Amino acid sequence: MKHYYKLDEWNIIEEGFDADKNEISESIFSLGNGYMGQRANFEEEYSGASLQGNYIAGVYYPDKTRVGWWKNGYPEYFAKVLNSTNWIGINIKINDISLDLAKCTVNEFKRVLNMEEGYLQRSFKAALSNGNEIEVKSKRFISMTRGEIGAIKYSLKPLNFKGKLEITPYLDGDVMNSDSNYDEKFWDEISKEVNPYEAYMMLKTKKLDFHICTYMTYELTKNGEIIKPLVALEQSEKYVSNTVLVDCIENDEITIYKYVANTSSRYYETAELRQRTKELSNKAKNDGFDILLKEQAHSWKEKWKESDIVIEGDISAQQGIRFNIFQLNQTYTGEDHRLNIGPKGFTGEKYGGSTYWDTEAYCIPFYLSTSEEKVSRNLLLYRYKQLDKAIENAEKLGFTNGAALYPMVTMNGEECHNEWEITFEEIHRNGAIAYATYNYVNYTGDKSCLGEFSFEVLAAISRFWAQRATFSKSKNKYVILGVTGPNEYENNINNNWYTNKIAAWTLGYTLEVINYLSENEPERLSELKEKLNFKDDEIVIWKSIIENMYYPCDEELGIFLQQDGYMDKEQILVKELDKKHLPLNQNWSWDRILRSCFIKQADVLQGIYLFEQEYDTDTIRRNFEFYEPRTVHESSLSPCIHTILAGKIGNHDKAYEMYLRASRLDLDNYNNDTNDGCHSTSMAGTWMAIVHGFGGLRVMNNKLILNPFIPKHWCSCSFKIMFRGALLNIKFTASTLQIQNENNIAVNLSVYEKDYSLNGNDLLEINIL
Ligand code: BGC
Repeated sequence: MKHYYKLDEWNIIEEGFDADKNEISESIFSLGNGYMGQRANFEEEYSGASLQGNYIAGVYYPDKTRVGWWKNGYPEYFAKVLNSTNWIGINIKINDISLDLAKCTVNEFKRVLNMEEGYLQRSFKAALSNGNEIEVKSKRFISMTRGEIGAIKYSLKPLNFKGKLEITPYLDGDVMNSDSNYDEKFWDEISKEVNPYEAYMMLKTKKLDFHICTYMTYELTKNGEIIKPLVALEQSEKYVSNTVLVDCIENDEITIYKYVANTSSRYYETAELRQRTKELSNKAKNDGFDILLKEQAHSWKEKWKESDIVIEGDISAQQGIRFNIFQLNQTYTGEDHRLNIGPKGFTGEKYGGSTYWDTEAYCIPFYLSTSEEKVSRNLLLYRYKQLDKAIENAEKLGFTNGAALYPMVTMNGEECHNEWEITFEEIHRNGAIAYATYNYVNYTGDKSCLGEFSFEVLAAISRFWAQRATFSKSKNKYVILGVTGPNEYENNINNNWYTNKIAAWTLGYTLEVINYLSENEPERLSELKEKLNFKDDEIVIWKSIIENMYYPCDEELGIFLQQDGYMDKEQILVKELDKKHLPLNQNWSWDRILRSCFIKQADVLQGIYLFEQEYDTDTIRRNFEFYEPRTVHESSLSPCIHTILAGKIGNHDKAYEMYLRASRLDLDNYNNDTNDGCHSTSMAGTWMAIVHGFGGLRVMNNKLILNPFIPKHWCSCSFKIMFRGALLNIKFTASTLQIQNENNIAVNLSVYEKDYSLNGNDLLEINIL
């Protein structure tokens, strides 16, 4: 699907209607504001293939688990983000015939996602079966300033007829999740009311009692003048609508402005939901579409000021990275520590909208550099608030003494995944959660979280690792048995290098934090030790594990081994495979995949990326050159890590090749699955590929380090990052590097291994040799 969408720096543009690609476009043109989001379904009826999706962040449903072969310890339910009330609906009848793009001739169809100002626009001409031709233009957005508000402007122009237009704005809560395990509907109606020019509906989830209230108001104009035609009211179960009839002649322009507020019991008392929702939607209507749109443009301008990346000389790459940044900013805004980032954001149901290790391993670096500290801190708090559940989860699996195993997939802290090899064995996720604290403290310099809450998380995770490692007499080392590493194409393996590494690292980091607290916050440390019943004997064991952890390696090749026995496998390279076998997960039996040496995603290399400062460049090169040719990158999270390491070892062509796989993954539907939703968390990986990969950004010892190189195909690249109060605009070409400090806070830098201090508002220019 390469370049199905037109190339443009700030817009995603679809020209011409291709019903076969509609579900892909519904994902691509998704809208969101961190509080709610939706797929780009049409406002008017559409009987063709479509995945309906409206989601409210944090409103989920514990759908009863469906599994072929039950195993003790499996979770009873899979929490999934709920498809909720369709609030965009505006049905149209033209002289009694429904406007339905699946049933008419569509001309001049154009859909545009304006990423600079944050709205979705659509226009087309449709010829109906009765010969009537109509032009439609719509614009809608989900407000970044007023979290609960969405607004739509929908205009109709008869092109060759006069007669009646029937316009039906509605709210439809009679919706389902397409992935409902037992084909159940998850909503019950609580109340509704429909009046002329307004209607509301309150629904409640069948379990957990999440209430959501949706209120619509609207206004009509004819050729720019407000009109108030008579209204027919309609309601049925979980459905409310108004219908108006408007007489029109050729070239009249009839516009409906629909303003909708969506509130939930997560933020308001149930008793006040209705009134509050009404006020919000009325206020939006009184302020009007143009004001709301202006606010929207302003909010996005502010977002771009802090997070934009500009690539000159490669419009395809420019569009790709802006699309990724746009989607990330639509998905999570960091105001509410109870929210997180699902792998598909608000763009589809897959992965249940739940939290994965993706957040800590991939998204936190993006939010750390492009938003205020609070945003990433809230992601740390999210896990802290779920610590009790993580301890319970570990207890269920037989661990004791406050050991915590965070879930692989979760909404509220409880594990939802139920494939044993992942639920029970993909335990490296615990390490990523610990690493996120290090990452936050290292980047921001803010250590207050350690005593406030992070030590508790670190201690609980460390207790888990201490119990999960076993001492092997034959090896005279600690080993970790029966795990799945990041490479999910291997299960139940022993001594996954990455897992062993991150386990021992967590123990070491927790000890560092204990030292820090004992020096700086001794009283708080004693309080915490008492609360956790923490004995210094534990430290003795941790130290012994750190010193004696077993790390598989191949001395002859000079590489770390992904797991015990990896070299016993038949060693074939991906390039030696006939292309028809790829992707393996669609062409090979699971058994064949497990027996092969092929690696789904960065695994040893993931560890080398995290702990890069521990390895010299030759070690990194040897491992990269061994693992990259064996990696099939069938997780979208993989190529970005390979980009960064290829950059590190100076293999710039490889870095660029890997970057291309990540950057337009969804826009070009590279994995043939964008219809399910966009790969939102891997979008943060794409950002990392540019900023950490091409920009060489790292933070060490309170210093920002940069080692930029520009891919051959680009004229220049610039990115913005926030670092300890400074806002830096870093621009590089093949021969020059400019770093403009756009704030008045000084910052210490190391660029190409030379130290600089950059004062507020100063510009540093360096010639690249
Ligand atoms: C990857 C995991 C990831 C999940 C959600 C899987 O395909 O292997 O590492 O957490 O997708 O993005």
